[in-house]
Amino acid sequence: MASIRRLDDADVAGKRVLVRVDFNAPMQDGRVTDDTRLRAAIPTIEALRERGAKTVLVSHFGRPKGKVVADMSLAPIAPTLSALLGTTVAFADDCIGETAAEAVTALEPGGVLLLENTRFHSGEEENDPAFARALAANGDVYVNDAFSAAHRAHASTEGVAQLLPAYAGLALARELDYLTSALGAAPNRPVVAIVGGAKVSTKIELLGNLVSKVDVLAIGGAMANTFLAARGVEIGASYAERDQLDTAREIETKAQAAGCELYLPVDVVVAERFEANAPHRTTAVVDVKANEMILDIGSMSVDEIAERVNDANTVVWNGPMGAFEIEPFDTSTVELAKFVANQTKADAVTSVAGGGDTVAALNHAGAAKDFTFVSTAGGAFLEWLEGRELPGVEALKNADEVA
Ligand code: 3PG
Repeated sequence: MASIRRLDDADVAGKRVLVRVDFNAPMQDGRVTDDTRLRAAIPTIEALRERGAKTVLVSHFGRPKGKVVADMSLAPIAPTLSALLGTTVAFADDCIGETAAEAVTALEPGGVLLLENTRFHSGEEENDPAFARALAANGDVYVNDAFSAAHRAHASTEGVAQLLPAYAGLALARELDYLTSALGAAPNRPVVAIVGGAKVSTKIELLGNLVSKVDVLAIGGAMANTFLAARGVEIGASYAERDQLDTAREIETKAQAAGCELYLPVDVVVAERFEANAPHRTTAVVDVKANEMILDIGSMSVDEIAERVNDANTVVWNGPMGAFEIEPFDTSTVELAKFVANQTKADAVTSVAGGGDTVAALNHAGAAKDFTFVSTAGGAFLEWLEGRELPGVEALKNADEVA
């Protein structure tokens, strides 16, 4: 990977540092219900405070589409962040113009200010140069600590990085380092990818990229049904994307050519109804009846994937193995997640997880805390797994190394 400019390289003492964070956190009735993304930004904010910078935080929240939407204000974040930091975080009602300028001017070295939602201005998502300039006017230096928004080429993630000396914050750099060590040019092989979720159609690029990079791709969740159907297996009333059978076959062919084992479940848990504790049985995949639907992978498949994890040095996980939201169809996800967590604790593998439902599934299993690294990102993690360049990261690379 071309090197990125890092916070340690930045001269920040006494300077106004505009920090792009991702405070797009779950909120209910004006209260933050999961502060993971706020906590992720703390190391960078503390490092800047210790170095005497004036920290100006900027973020999007929700999708207000260029309009001021009261319940998408970042104002409720300021007190939560103040409590986490143990210092008062000031708040400005706008991220550009006089309001922002006055609040920035009032900042002392070591002070922290949060600006209002960038997406209240249409220029943010349009990456409008005039809006980027207005944002950049709030800082002398720019730091991007929002890996989870780095797949967006917006003014606050990309435009501003062209206007100010730009550096990666500690959380963004840490995220990139882990992802690169798992799936970069020289991963610690064997690498096993465990990918679940419902749809092949939303993960075609991801699967196509993974088979060329990993040694084993184990597929679970409803997307395994599509792959099984593509192999000619009768999957009864199971959810599958019948229009994606050719795609599944192409991915299988690509895997074979790349020497990647594409592992599909050999046994499954089936039920006639999609509801918690519906009567169910475990059966070989070849014995699913016409009125049955596959809701989880079976214990033999869990054991076989665990054997591959046992032989691996790196595990990448995205998506649940079954309908993990309803019992007992969460069983394989929980067991496999615990196995990977234990292997990680025993220093036998490096485990990296992220994207969409993954964090919820690993939290449900009580396993997330023992993974080596769990990404805070949804879409950005998936785009990374697809092998795409992320505009917010590209903008932080040393000029001579950007293609
Ligand atoms: C996320 O929650 O994945 C990021 O904050 C990006 O949000 P977006 O999909 O609205 O750009």
